[in-house]
Amino acid sequence: MRGKNIVIGICGGIAAYKIPHLVRLLKKKGAHVRVALTEGGAHFVSELALATVSEEPVYGKIFPPMGTERMDFTRHISLGEWADALVIAPATANTLARLSAGLCDDMLSALFITLRPGKPVLIFPAMDGQMFLSPSVQRNIATLATQGCSIINPESGELASGLCGVGRMPEPEAILAALEEALHENRECSPLRGKRVVVTAGPTREKIDGVRFISNYSSGKMGFALARAASKRGALVTLIAGPVHLPTPPDVERLDVESTAEMNVIAEGFFKSCDLFIGAAAVSDYRPAMPYEGKMKKDDEIIELTLVKNPDILAGFGMQKNASQIAVGFALETRTGLESARKKLVSKNLDLIAFNFFDRKTSGFEVDTNILTLIGSDGAITELPQLTKDAAAEKLLDAVELLYLKRTVNP
Ligand code: PMT
Repeated sequence: MRGKNIVIGICGGIAAYKIPHLVRLLKKKGAHVRVALTEGGAHFVSELALATVSEEPVYGKIFPPMGTERMDFTRHISLGEWADALVIAPATANTLARLSAGLCDDMLSALFITLRPGKPVLIFPAMDGQMFLSPSVQRNIATLATQGCSIINPESGELASGLCGVGRMPEPEAILAALEEALHENRECSPLRGKRVVVTAGPTREKIDGVRFISNYSSGKMGFALARAASKRGALVTLIAGPVHLPTPPDVERLDVESTAEMNVIAEGFFKSCDLFIGAAAVSDYRPAMPYEGKMKKDDEIIELTLVKNPDILAGFGMQKNASQIAVGFALETRTGLESARKKLVSKNLDLIAFNFFDRKTSGFEVDTNILTLIGSDGAITELPQLTKDAAAEKLLDAVELLYLKRTVNP
């Protein structure tokens, strides 16, 4: 649950008063939580309580009130993009009808439509037993289930009407357990499952002589995080690593190299067979033309070193890849480097590039966090905040999964 973005939709049912507790449970587990409250929901639980426990503004109406400090006119889209999962609890008959009909007249119904494909949606209907069993509610539930939503049937027990029967929302602990299971299963059916993924990571070293080399500050953390995250999603991962001091992620095949030429030879061996190639390595662009045998003498005040260009490994893959293969690159740049990243995306024939801001304090080489902007070959741009390299890897793989899902819809 750690680092997951969860949206909870709350509708107008008495069980809504239990949702602040669910928000707290999720926050304790390390999730980020945002709440979409319907007009009906606001009668049963206060916006202030929800904002306090979630530490986020509560989303209600689709149109932001004019003149407020935080004007965000496309929140219904950004929320749908942000969410790793949507939980609707309690879900009323009215909201089920609106969602199944595709209406989008408030924030919850709008973000339901803009949610990224493949993200789990868990719906917990809670209402009077007769209402729940009515043909119209059951029809709407069936429609939502065919759209891929998980409908968790209400429990039996005492209802707000004083009657006993089916209709009670499960307790927050049970909702949390169902969400954890859904997120786990979501991984199980990731489009990356069974895909052959190659990741390059770390720096390369180019020998000047037997004891000196040209290199850079890459620690390999970003590439290793990607390999770990892809493996967790069920991919068959090969990690081609320059000289770094990191443990090999579980279930990952690791091939250690030193120079760009070595990395290139190993990588080329996977060009035909891999499904996804991610270039996270900081590859030395040049190497000394004629490295000295042994140790260079220090007699001269000035020495001249002639450098020759190294092969571009990622471009080599990008240029020969077939229609089903995906190429992902990184571009380490200062703040103004977006255009340069875009040029690399095109010149190396990539499907996605991560513009990697670097300051060596919050992002880039060595540090544990990164600030990435993902640029797709279709021009789509996703700016990510400062994230741990593990969380950034998950976001990048979410974007790759989206590419696979789009290809399934439009082959
Ligand atoms: O290893 P860390 O300390 O965690 O730091 C992570 C990182 C900053 C190294 C990583 O996130 C990153 O940005 N890697 C790419 C850095 C870079 O060298 O960018 P570039 O603009 O020079 O190269 C563009 C792309 O082409 C990269 O995907 C690179 O792997 C690839 N390339 C470049 C040159 C070359 N000869 N062969 C390549 O494959």
